[in-house]
Amino acid sequence: MVQNIIIDTDPGQDDAVAILLALASPELNVLGITAVAGNVPLDLTSKNARIVCELAGRTDIPVYAGCDRPMARDLVTAEHVHGKTGLDGAELPDPTMRLQDAHAVDFLIETLRTEPPGSVTLCPLGPLTNIGTALRRAPDIADRIARIVLMGGGYFEVGNITPAAEFNIFVDPEAAQLVFRAGVPLTVLPLDCTHKALTTRARNDAFRAAGRIGEVVAGWTGFFERFDMEKYGSEGAPLHDPCVISWLLAPDLFQGREINVEIEVESPLTRGMSVADWWRVTDRAPNALFIGHVDAEGFFQMLTERLGRL
Ligand code: BDR
Ligand code: CA
Repeated sequence: MVQNIIIDTDPGQDDAVAILLALASPELNVLGITAVAGNVPLDLTSKNARIVCELAGRTDIPVYAGCDRPMARDLVTAEHVHGKTGLDGAELPDPTMRLQDAHAVDFLIETLRTEPPGSVTLCPLGPLTNIGTALRRAPDIADRIARIVLMGGGYFEVGNITPAAEFNIFVDPEAAQLVFRAGVPLTVLPLDCTHKALTTRARNDAFRAAGRIGEVVAGWTGFFERFDMEKYGSEGAPLHDPCVISWLLAPDLFQGREINVEIEVESPLTRGMSVADWWRVTDRAPNALFIGHVDAEGFFQMLTERLGRL
């Protein structure tokens, strides 16, 4: 059965690869892409989302611009990882596709109210501002969302932007708290999983061999892996956001636990920490499938094969 999804995103090279993977997959029907401020400001994320659609030849996908800043805080961006444009590493033409007139939050609410209940899955790949705002403005949509499958947080791997917090949750912890408390079925792909989905020279060579789009992807990974290799001393860079789409396509590649996850919004020291009860030491009810492991070989094989189809 084909799954209807909405990708909420702040591209970002790894977001871009996630979008391409979704567009290459007949099991998924992308109803729309909603852009949010995150890795770079909104004008760039909403432009980059269209660049990626055009790269895939999918000018039919509606792209909406959403919130340009977190619900309660100033925006923090990550040009130090993704470059000035957010998509540094490959030369791509400016988009000719227009942005949709509607605001991303209105599109989310409208779509969830119109489509049959339980038929739309949300895939947030950036700060949760658009989703949190939609849930606050229209709490009735919570019951209509099939599942939220998001990249964010960390438990054993803890933080990548502060010692305690992962970037997407750190940027808008209030929105994340709303999402984690919404009672919607939730799958979380945290750093514990995504730090196992590492590029290597062989994996980049395989992208390049997969054709025109694979070459673009290898350009992107080549750009941002320099930063991650220096930071983590790892062989390559984590492909965070494609894990979300990959979980939808092949959940057997992943392992996790149904646990309780709460978001810290108060402490200045640990703002945006995802407090994951991995060892189930509290009696707080589970609210998320928190993924701790991915079969990296299987993940890269599927990704490379799918990119070759575009
Ligand atoms: C997340 O932050 C962004 O830099 C990436 O696109 C990913 O969504 C990883 O912490
Ligand atoms: Ca992202």
